[in-house]
Amino acid sequence: MAHLFTPYSIGNLELKNRIVMAPMCQYSVTAKDGKPNDWHFTHYTSRAVGGAGLIIVEMTDVEPDGRITDYDLGLWSDDHIPSFQRIVDACHAHGAKIGIQIAHAGRKAEDAPVPVAPSPIRFDGPQYKTPRELSTDEVKQMVEKFAAAARRALKAGFDVIELHGAHGYLIHQFHSPLTNRRKDAYGEDLALFGVEVIQAVKAELPSGMPLFVRVSAVEYADGGYDLDHAIEICRRYRDAGADVIHVSSGGEGHPGARRPGNFPGFQVPYARRIKDALQVPVIAVGMLDHPALAESIVANGDADLVAIARGFLRDPYWPIHAAMALGEKPQVPVQYQRAF
Ligand SMILES: Cc1cc2nc3c(=O)[nH]c(=O)nc-3n(C[C@H](O)[C@H](O)[C@H](O)COP(=O)(O)O)c2cc1C
Repeated sequence: MAHLFTPYSIGNLELKNRIVMAPMCQYSVTAKDGKPNDWHFTHYTSRAVGGAGLIIVEMTDVEPDGRITDYDLGLWSDDHIPSFQRIVDACHAHGAKIGIQIAHAGRKAEDAPVPVAPSPIRFDGPQYKTPRELSTDEVKQMVEKFAAAARRALKAGFDVIELHGAHGYLIHQFHSPLTNRRKDAYGEDLALFGVEVIQAVKAELPSGMPLFVRVSAVEYADGGYDLDHAIEICRRYRDAGADVIHVSSGGEGHPGARRPGNFPGFQVPYARRIKDALQVPVIAVGMLDHPALAESIVANGDADLVAIARGFLRDPYWPIHAAMALGEKPQVPVQYQRAF
């Protein structure tokens, strides 16, 4: 059997294959209330029908001003729970597990009147404002907001929580020397905010439920951190309770001398290095939608799981088609079997 289609389990989570639908903002909350609507229901449910082992719902923010735009999802109140639960139940009915990426955009919150961040350093671009530096007390409250959002996600029935510590959003802003110039404990120890968020969220999870954390393995802006820094941050995150590291890169600013590869598999070496250095399960992501490439990543042990983003936008049935390309009998809903 193709390695991509072998089951995977960690803690109490059992996935039917190694295929993860990566989180992708849809910017489609037309009511601007943070609640998923019919678009989100159809979008996620069709990928469950298409055979994804794990679907990770897009960046979902812990407070209204933590959204990139007002069209993003949120989990800042209990009123949000039922519309997420409807999606969770439907994805479960079609055999997929489903997680959610909990986040705060920090200085990359475009519609917030005054965005907040570790330090008042503006992201370069016309849509960005100079953020206000969070006070030490506000940082502690922010940790609680992440925990509260995770609590609501559990009530909605999600199988996995992923914390967004990548792409220049708030957790990443704290662990990057480019964006964290604080003089308090959260500046002296760049990992401290992420560590506290992980510990607070982990304390909410039932035992055996794994916590995923997405990180940028390298920064591309001049002066940005390198892979060795990311490994030390991930070591702290692992020790604090992160069970799986989802390895992406960049997003903190405009690339300088170091530039993203942007060729198939360009981030896989980062996933492999983090896995080897920390002995932690990893998800590889980034231009992996050629089935043979995805298969080789699992077969070679470069990563435990393979996440597909744009490939799933092109083809909601990517896993079915990948199975056929790899010579596997695809698992299709009974209603569709006459076509296979
Ligand atoms: C439309 C779109 C929205 C995205 N939104 C998110 C997001 O909410 N959270 C996140 O961590 N990454 C987000 N990403 C990045 C993807 O998860 C993924 O890492 C990236 O697209 C590379 O994978 P791919 O080559 O398979 O597309 C987004 C990407 C796209 C194309």
